[in-house]
Amino acid sequence: MDLLISDVTKQRLGQAKRVVVLTGAGISAASGIPTFRGENGLWTKLAPQELASFEGFYRNTAVVSEWYKHRRDIIEVCQPNAAHTTLVELEKLVAEFTLITQNIDGLHQRAGSQDVIELHGTIMQNYCTRCNRQYSVAEFAQIYNRSSNHVPRCFCGGIVRPNVVWFGESLPVAAYERAYKASMQAEVFLAIGTSAQVRPAADLPMIAKEQGAYLIEINIVKTVLTPHADLFLEGAADKILPQFNREYQSLLANV
Ligand code: OAD
Repeated sequence: MDLLISDVTKQRLGQAKRVVVLTGAGISAASGIPTFRGENGLWTKLAPQELASFEGFYRNTAVVSEWYKHRRDIIEVCQPNAAHTTLVELEKLVAEFTLITQNIDGLHQRAGSQDVIELHGTIMQNYCTRCNRQYSVAEFAQIYNRSSNHVPRCFCGGIVRPNVVWFGESLPVAAYERAYKASMQAEVFLAIGTSAQVRPAADLPMIAKEQGAYLIEINIVKTVLTPHADLFLEGAADKILPQFNREYQSLLANV
């Protein structure tokens, strides 16, 4: 395989103390979790306003709850792939490493990443829309199985929803603040497997770039980000990232 890292990239990477990574659905594609956009993406077949908005949930709680349960069941049997595990290794090479994800699947954590900024929440938790009581997967299964109509109800009577950010909702403030601050200070920013279409997460690579970061994109296709990337690595994340990491490691060994 050709070297991924050119001389310019070597220089920028070799000097970088602060590296920020933003991941999207593409990083989990090789684990068997469908992406949202692109060929066969979930949003090419399903209506996001029905399945990923509070209005849709309110209108059709049973359908939306079932859909999230179905996705959770799929995710639970999927395994992290080589891209997730490579990021665990990459973290060890960098003085200040920040991992930001738009994914709700928890695969970074299952791969071993300890500190993941989850901008869009997590499908592994649910909470009551009335009293805010939190439900783990096991606790949620109990109330879900108890309901006769697939509407999960809290002990207080409120409806229980997944702890994910839906269209029209704000991102968790503390998570976005950390992500924003890290992006402002990044020396190298890697955008991996994201179409960069959903803001404000999609703004982060450009914020980093405007502050002088070296922007690297890994994707199977070009995106709106590609014209701004200093380095575009075309291919599947689970193939590109391990190679990238090997080259980065040998680069550091020679610095
Ligand atoms: P998208 O589905 O919009 O984009 C996935 C990107 O991954 C696309 O650009 C693909 O080309 C790329 N891709 C697919 N397979 C890949 C692979 N093996 N290796 C590398 N790249 C690959 O997903 P996101 O950008 O994450 O929001 O979408 C952002 C948000 O939109 C999601 O978090 C979700 C969705 O609506 C919420 O649920 C709030």
